[in-house]
This record gives sequence, C-alpha cells and structure tokens, in this order.
Amino acid sequence: MAYNLLKGKKGIIFGALNEQSIAWKVAQRAVQEGAEIVLSNAPIALRMGELNKLAEECNAPVIGADVTNGDDINNLFTKTLEHFGGKVDFILHSIGMSVNVRKNIPYFENNYDFTHKGFDISALSLHRILQAAMKHDAINEWGSVLALSYIAAQRYFPGYNDMADNKAVLESIARNFGYEYGMAKKVRVNTISQSPTRTTAGSGVKGFDGFIEFAEKMSPLGNADADQCADYCVTMFSDLTKMVTMQNLYHDGGFSFTGVTQAVIDQMAK
Ligand SMILES: NC(=O)c1ccc[n+]([C@@H]2O[C@H](COP(=O)([O-])OP(=O)(O)OC[C@H]3O[C@@H](n4cnc5c(N)ncnc54)[C@H](O)[C@@H]3O)[C@@H](O)[C@H]2O)c1
Repeated sequence: MAYNLLKGKKGIIFGALNEQSIAWKVAQRAVQEGAEIVLSNAPIALRMGELNKLAEECNAPVIGADVTNGDDINNLFTKTLEHFGGKVDFILHSIGMSVNVRKNIPYFENNYDFTHKGFDISALSLHRILQAAMKHDAINEWGSVLALSYIAAQRYFPGYNDMADNKAVLESIARNFGYEYGMAKKVRVNTISQSPTRTTAGSGVKGFDGFIEFAEKMSPLGNADADQCADYCVTMFSDLTKMVTMQNLYHDGGFSFTGVTQAVIDQMAK
C-alpha cells in the first residue's frame, strides 16, 4: 500500500548491497511512495553487479562512492545535484563494517588498524557525508537524514565488538550535526536503532542466529524486519515527522524497554 508520502521528493540511498540489505528495501519503498532516488555504494560493492537490478527497478542512477574518501563523496554530491537539477530532500546512511568482527578478533584483542578502518566506514562517514552536503548546500529545508544504528550503542552485546563503539559515535554525530544543520538549514538528522535483521552485515556477527532468536523472544511485538524498517524510514523522510531531529529512534518491537518476557522466564525455568 502506498500513500504518496514522498511525492516530489528526491534522495540519496547509501548501502544497498543485495536484496537482503535494509537500504535495498528502503529504496524500493521510497520509490513506491513517489520519490526519485540516486543509489550509492562502495566501488567494490558495485563490481558485484547486484545493485544494477535495483537501479533498473527504481529507475535510479548508481554513483559509486567509498564513504571514507572525501573526493568520492564530493563527486557524488556534484553528480546528484546535476542529475536532479536541484537539491535532495533525504539521505539514508545504511553503512557498516568492522574488520575486527569479520576476522573474529575479540574486543580485548582488537587490531587498531582494523578499528580505525571500521570507525571510518561505520561512524565518521556520517560526519563526512553531512559536512559535504552542507558545503554543497545539497539538502532542501526540512530535509531528513537518517542513519541506521543498533542498541549495542547503549548496552553490551556479545560479538558486536567494536561496532558497538562505532554505533555510539554514529548516534552522537547525528545528535551534534542535527543541531548544527537544524540551526543552519532546518535539516533534521536522526538514527534508527533497528532489531537484528538477517543481512550480509548482520550475519557477520558471531552467533547471530541465537541472537536474533533471543531478541524475538524479548520483544512484545517480535523483531522488526527490513521491510518494516523501510516503512519507518519513509515516514521519517516524509513531511509528517518534520519536528523530529537529533534522536535515536528505537525500531525494535519493544526490545529496548523490556526487562524480561514470560517466554524467556519459561525458557530459563526448563
Ligand atoms: N542487520 C542487522 O541486524 C542490523 C541491525 C541494526 C542496524 N543495522 C545497520 O544497518 C545498516 C545496513 O546494514 P545491513 O544489515 O543492511 O547490511 P548490508 O551488508 O546489506 O549493508 C552494509 C552496506 O555498507 C556498505 N559499505 C561497506 N563499506 C563501505 C564503504 N567504504 N563505502 C560505502 N559503503 C560501504 C556495503 O557495501 C553494504 O552495502 C548498517 O549500518 C548496520 O550496522 C543492521
């Protein structure tokens, strides 16, 4: 069901890798709601070729950018503004990667070159994108920028490793840049803290299956899936949420505020 929530709006979607990606679902949903989009991902992800399918479906150009590279981001904004013949209304940052997680290196033995790389990709990239957007004056007033986060920013979760630190900084950047961009141009910046979701990035976390099952049992509504996350992103890009900024918004079926559920108590009593 579409409501034309994004009719006439234009946006950039970072991070669609394959059909499981949260960004993939957000791209489809945004277009369904009437938006025009530009898709971006790292050059290495573009070489995998899957993104072309989505680009065709959404009638969207693909502009590659490694988000750790300022020149790539500047080029993306220049080309996007040219393509639309004007500014954008929304940006989705759906990007995350930790080499320490990928290589199964425990938190207390982290390799700092890997830590820096993961931080650059997963957290600092939001600052870089916002700084470049401001420099290019690329976002219309009341525009909306969203980044995806996880509750390990607030609480310990085994296996999440240095991504927990990256998400804490990501949320902090959204808050601080949200103030600056709000004052300067009435642009809002928020993070959505999503339930564990079966995607390439998600499945990289050790013991993910147990993790997702536990979260399901610990949430009164169950885990939110990628399609539901896309629905929420679309409302956050729309004019219906104009006064929401600098927030970390939980989209997790109630997990974040549940102490324990009966299902978990029953399981423990077995
Ligand atoms: N899957 C989950 O359980 C879950 C839960 C909460 C939040 N998130 C967050 O959602 C976001 C999207 O992840 P996903 O689960 O859809 O997985 P995904 O693997 O589909 O997406 C991650 C994306 O980051 C991109 N990326 C990596 N390095 C990059 C670089 N240098 N430049 C540009 N792009 C780069 C990848 O190409 C990929 O498209 C991430 O921020 C992730 O942490 C995921």
